[in-house]
Amino acid sequence: MAAIKGPLSESAQKVTGQALQGALVDLVDLSLFAKQAHWNLTGRNFKVVHEHLDEIVDLARQSMDDVAERAIAIGVNPDGRARTVADRSEIPQLEAGYLEDDKVVAAVTDALAQIIARFRERIAATDEPDPVSQDLLIGISAELEKQHWMFQAQS
Ligand SMILES: [Fe+2]
Repeated sequence: MAAIKGPLSESAQKVTGQALQGALVDLVDLSLFAKQAHWNLTGRNFKVVHEHLDEIVDLARQSMDDVAERAIAIGVNPDGRARTVADRSEIPQLEAGYLEDDKVVAAVTDALAQIIARFRERIAATDEPDPVSQDLLIGISAELEKQHWMFQAQS
């Protein structure tokens, strides 16, 4: 088949593709991070945190699909392979085993803050090259920032 031809110039496609690929890695790993915490959680606030973590999973999964499909729409192949994500993710790893609710809330808050900072950089980077991708990144950032507030408010 022919390669997908998007609307962007080669240089705009490159910058935007890197931003979307970086966002994809963050979101795939965020979904895994939140599920790991969802399963291994302990503590008095188990129920509320357990359920809240699945909201993060849902947000990450929907958003990863949106950024991956935006990437291919501009002719950049998204790479969501486990090894790629493991190699490139900068989200701190959770410890294996049981995780206390207070520590999970702090870890999620911290991870979201780091991801949001990278999304802000991607928003700046795509401003001129591709406002359509930028708009997608802004929308996802608004949801990440809302979750960041809600996790901070629990600690
Ligand atoms: Fe579950």
